[in-house]
Amino acid sequence: MRLKESLLSRRDFFTGLLGGGLAALAGFIGYPVVRFLFHRKKIPLPKGVTIAMTDIEKMAPNSAAYFTYGNLPGVLLKTETGELRAFSAKCTHLDCNVQYRPEEKKFFCACHDGYFDDQGLNIAGPPPRPMDVFSVEPGEENLVVRYQEESKHT
Ligand code: FES
Repeated sequence: MRLKESLLSRRDFFTGLLGGGLAALAGFIGYPVVRFLFHRKKIPLPKGVTIAMTDIEKMAPNSAAYFTYGNLPGVLLKTETGELRAFSAKCTHLDCNVQYRPEEKKFFCACHDGYFDDQGLNIAGPPPRPMDVFSVEPGEENLVVRYQEESKHT
């Protein structure tokens, strides 16, 4: 037996098809966005990282070297007097990486013209707070660098 009238009009069928397709597209695009925004996996930081003293001795005075601390970028500064200072290399504005400018003795963030002095203090541009500081513990063979949660400026 054949129905003379369909239970669903052609217009309803295509409207439903279009609606279902748009809902699937929204889910396909929206799910990764929502997951990225609200489901960031926190990777634990290491207790410390070591940098060979031989590498540090090779650094010229008033220069910087970059290292990784878990998933954080770090920067080790050797001042003109040989003092070692370590900071998170992430700009405190929007997390771009900073670079050391020896001629100015400042850290520079190219994203929005942010500046930090050689103590990590924010001195110009949009960064709202100083750079996060790592502790440095020189040893015979290695320098141990540790992230200090309490040193994180708020
Ligand atoms: S991210 Fe560094 S100044 Fe904006």
